[in-house]
Amino acid sequence: MSICFENNRFHLKTRRYSYIFELTAGRYPVHLYWGRKVRDINDHPLSRLTRYDDKSFTLNEQTLDHLPLECPVFGGSDLRPGMLHLLHADGTHALDLVYKTHEILDGSKVIQGLPSARGDDAQTLVVTLEDRVSGIKADLFYTVWQDLDVIARHLRIRNEGTAHAMIEEAMSASVDFENADMDLLTLSGSWAREREPFRRSLVPGIQAVSTERGASSHQTSPFIALMSKNATERSGDVYGFALCYSGSFYAGVNVDQFGMARTMMGINPYNFAWKLQPGDAFETPECYLVYSDTGIGGMSRIYHRFIHERITSGRFASGPRPILINNWEATYFNFNEDKLLELARCAKDVGIDLFVLDDGWFGHRDSDNSSLGDWTDDLNKLPGGLRHLSDSIHELGLKFGLWVEPEMISPDSDLYRAHPDWCIHVGSRQRLESRQQLVLDLTRSDVREYIVSAISSAINRANADYIKWDMNRNISMWGASQLPADQQQELGHRYILGLYEIVDRITKAFPAILFESCSGGGGRFDLGMLTFMPQTWCSDDTDAWMRCRIESSTSLLFPPSAMGAHVSAVPNHQTGRNTPLQTRAAVAMCGTFGYELDLLKLTPEELDEIRTINTRVHAWQMLLYYGNFYRLCDPYNSNEAGWMVVSDDRSEAIVTHVYAMAYPNQKQRMLLLDGLDPDLHYLDDATGRIYGGDELMYHGYPLKTAWNDYMSQQIHLTAVK
Ligand code: GLA
Repeated sequence: MSICFENNRFHLKTRRYSYIFELTAGRYPVHLYWGRKVRDINDHPLSRLTRYDDKSFTLNEQTLDHLPLECPVFGGSDLRPGMLHLLHADGTHALDLVYKTHEILDGSKVIQGLPSARGDDAQTLVVTLEDRVSGIKADLFYTVWQDLDVIARHLRIRNEGTAHAMIEEAMSASVDFENADMDLLTLSGSWAREREPFRRSLVPGIQAVSTERGASSHQTSPFIALMSKNATERSGDVYGFALCYSGSFYAGVNVDQFGMARTMMGINPYNFAWKLQPGDAFETPECYLVYSDTGIGGMSRIYHRFIHERITSGRFASGPRPILINNWEATYFNFNEDKLLELARCAKDVGIDLFVLDDGWFGHRDSDNSSLGDWTDDLNKLPGGLRHLSDSIHELGLKFGLWVEPEMISPDSDLYRAHPDWCIHVGSRQRLESRQQLVLDLTRSDVREYIVSAISSAINRANADYIKWDMNRNISMWGASQLPADQQQELGHRYILGLYEIVDRITKAFPAILFESCSGGGGRFDLGMLTFMPQTWCSDDTDAWMRCRIESSTSLLFPPSAMGAHVSAVPNHQTGRNTPLQTRAAVAMCGTFGYELDLLKLTPEELDEIRTINTRVHAWQMLLYYGNFYRLCDPYNSNEAGWMVVSDDRSEAIVTHVYAMAYPNQKQRMLLLDGLDPDLHYLDDATGRIYGGDELMYHGYPLKTAWNDYMSQQIHLTAVK
């Protein structure tokens, strides 16, 4: 049993960890413990502190303000920020959620309208609390994947009263840590600089990351971790929180007067409210809680395995992925069928599997200032239409993929001329464009129907094997023409519900297609999108050294199988940097591998090198994408990047190492490897040398000296008898 209830106490057990809370005086769920597995907590200071029994306990006597709570709310005697804030129909905010009942169910819980992790092998605890005066009920969900060491939390609010209530805030999870003497790790960045890690000490007050843009965003990510001060990649306590949601989110820690750290994650309450009518329910997205006593690396490996086994789905979730070539950086908007076929022929010749036609194939889109929404073939560029191009590419023995940006509309489009009211806008106010485009109002069912039908038709015409689903701007001038005034703040969440409905319908209708999510690179790289699309274009920055950083920090949460990574041209189009082809390829092998350059401009020697690289990727990809991932170097704070993947049975490993600058006259650098079997011996393919696993992990692997900038090494190790 992964969930036990005894003496008013819930004990959630995974293979290695325990999460314990109890009903204080049989009424309020109080958090007791989260960490390495224990049989029980026999003498907890809080249990002593709250020794009162049901009869003697009243709210007047005892404040909840000093207790670590599982469901803190605004409007009671806990005066810290809560996870739930309701505004009753009479304008008051008081709330007193008291334990009513609980049940333990087999499997995980499907959340209406929202993606969630699969869980036949899970158990779910539902603790129901009620506010007797208003009739509001709150169900706290805890789904436990025992073998995967993950607990999902989310909240459902039901209105069983007679008047409506406005939900002003509803977090997915709240965990009170008794000791705030910890560090907080967050990811922040920008377009082409996504997910830079920031680590800081917790101090009294609120420290948070959030987005208000309607998307999980380039600027931050729905993931945070708390960790012991001494936590490193390899050791220390780390507590991860990751949200399965693609819209505006909040993730924050409030350190209170007693040094307790309340950590909350969920839909951003800023610019959010939800009107809950009597009889209605509202559910929050799932938040995945992970504890690791083997440092930050241990946390990442738990998340990676969980993503492979319970988040991504479909035939590509655990299978090989095609090596692709995308024409974006090769041609931008400037292509025709001949040019594309020339590129495709060369791609086939060097061992590429899939040709992807990016932006510019529809309407009259010769630049980014028109045609979004008009998903009809541009016969000037493609005289035989998509089907002719696709047939020709299929005949070459390549698969064919297509770029779409379904959520957008260009003011210069037939769609906009026919339906000027279909975009998010506010009455006669100026419609603010970004990249010359507006956002379609996905809260409208007619808009959703149009998108499903227009995109399905394009997919069918293209006979596509792959779709890149892009989204290139955020929402501004928030207004949903079909929502009443008191529901306008539902727009952000309803947009995401509309998006999930669309992607669910389209991905289910085309189960054989590999979908890749994208948002100006990694502007919507989150677990929500990943449940529908097993890979995400990591960043529009394709520079190898920048990618060392971005991929390294993205791997804090996401496995290589989720990160789209391409070899591009030099000088690089984002940074102007020159890096060796070998390095660009080694770095792109940290993700789902592809190319994004004009092969026709390469020398015969470079094309030969690409053939060799592709043979290697085909041979190694299952290990590269699904192996156990270890970060070895920190490219943000050193001159080196390095990571390795190890097979489950530890018989095979691939190590990648990159030096940024070359420095002359360096001493021998020994790279400490990780995750190997100390008792095995490993053969280094390239040199024929044999090393002990213990030697490689404790003494290190002797790296070659850097003889030019951005030099890389890949080391393939196989266990030998
Ligand atoms: C976004 C994507 C790019 C490319 C362009 C096309 O920026 O991230 O990869 O598809 O759009 O306009």
